[in-house]
Amino acid sequence: MTEESIYSGYPQGDDRFAEPSVRPANFGDFVGQEAVVKNLNTWITGALNRSESLDHALLSGPPGLGKTTLAYILSHEMGCEIRATSGPTLAKPKDLVGILTNLQHGDILFIDEIHRLDSRVEEYLYTAMEDYEISIIIDPGPHSRSVTLPLKRFTLVGATTREGLLTAPLRSRFQITERLDYYPPAELEQILLNSAKKMNVKLKPDAARIMAECARGTPRVANRYLRRIRDVAHSQNEAIIGKNMARKGLKMLGVDHNGLCEMDRRILKAIGEKGGNAIGLKTLAVIAGEQEETIEEVYEPYLIRKGLLEKTPRGRTLTERGREHIGMEIIARPDKKSDSSLF
Ligand SMILES: Nc1ncnc2c1ncn2[C@@H]1O[C@H](COP(=O)(O)OP(=O)(O)OP(=O)(O)O)[C@@H](O)[C@H]1O
Ligand SMILES: [Mg+2]
Repeated sequence: MTEESIYSGYPQGDDRFAEPSVRPANFGDFVGQEAVVKNLNTWITGALNRSESLDHALLSGPPGLGKTTLAYILSHEMGCEIRATSGPTLAKPKDLVGILTNLQHGDILFIDEIHRLDSRVEEYLYTAMEDYEISIIIDPGPHSRSVTLPLKRFTLVGATTREGLLTAPLRSRFQITERLDYYPPAELEQILLNSAKKMNVKLKPDAARIMAECARGTPRVANRYLRRIRDVAHSQNEAIIGKNMARKGLKMLGVDHNGLCEMDRRILKAIGEKGGNAIGLKTLAVIAGEQEETIEEVYEPYLIRKGLLEKTPRGRTLTERGREHIGMEIIARPDKKSDSSLF
């Protein structure tokens, strides 16, 4: 997949190293997703008051919205250990058995990308989650026998960007399911201000607002823009990121006043050139030069939320605003040299 773009919520490049330093450690530091946080807080308090482990929880939602962050916050708030792994890493049942048998009472086993579990591994999870035991076969062959191993009462926290791909038996074994949604600009602004403090960079609230408006509703994208714009400021010996610096940085990243990047604009233009006719995903992918999957998962959701693109049974069409947007683009083209025309 080519989700490798700074505008996608998928993790990449330096995210892995840069993110832990700005990641909220507790609910107090976690901005937004009020309903999810309120629910999780309630389930945690209930479990703690009964001195029980937390029920199995499934966190779903688009990439970069805070699922992994929440899993770590759950372990912090429950005061328990967390063991993190991911669907693709657990290639064989033996990998899972080793982890499960080492878990202590109340521990959290975090499985990221749980929709990508191998089906044989997944089957082992069923009894582990439900009965806290696993049956393993020893001495495979004519003398094979099965031994049932008891497990401590652990909590499975699963995260997925593709909830629809989860099998029904697995999904039904989660007593808690919470879905994260895109963040409004006001919350992203707060996230940016908090991150700036942790990164030791001075960010003005109006600059944070401009960046928040362009961050595709995704904290990961917002933090990534902040890191790049901090570089722009520091490369010019500027200590503070103000409005102009934010605009300049976003422009260098190819992001326009609507938060649209080059590929978004290419997609809109490809549809626009069909003169109001709907266009299928395959054709769109060829014209725009991007993979179908990436268009569907990274670019389209944002264009739809911005009210620029519509999905109809016949294909993709532009809304009035979408047409206006590319119209503006075309008019703005001769004026390319002028910075101010973009904002
Ligand atoms: N509500 C929030 N408040 C503050 N920062 C947040 C919040 N949600 C996410 N972030 C920041 O965004 C980054 C990405 O979050 P996280 O890794 O938890 O996303 P994710 O949903 O697990 O993504 P993926 O689907 O790729 O695994 C983190 O560095 C974290 O600091
Ligand atoms: Mg994650």
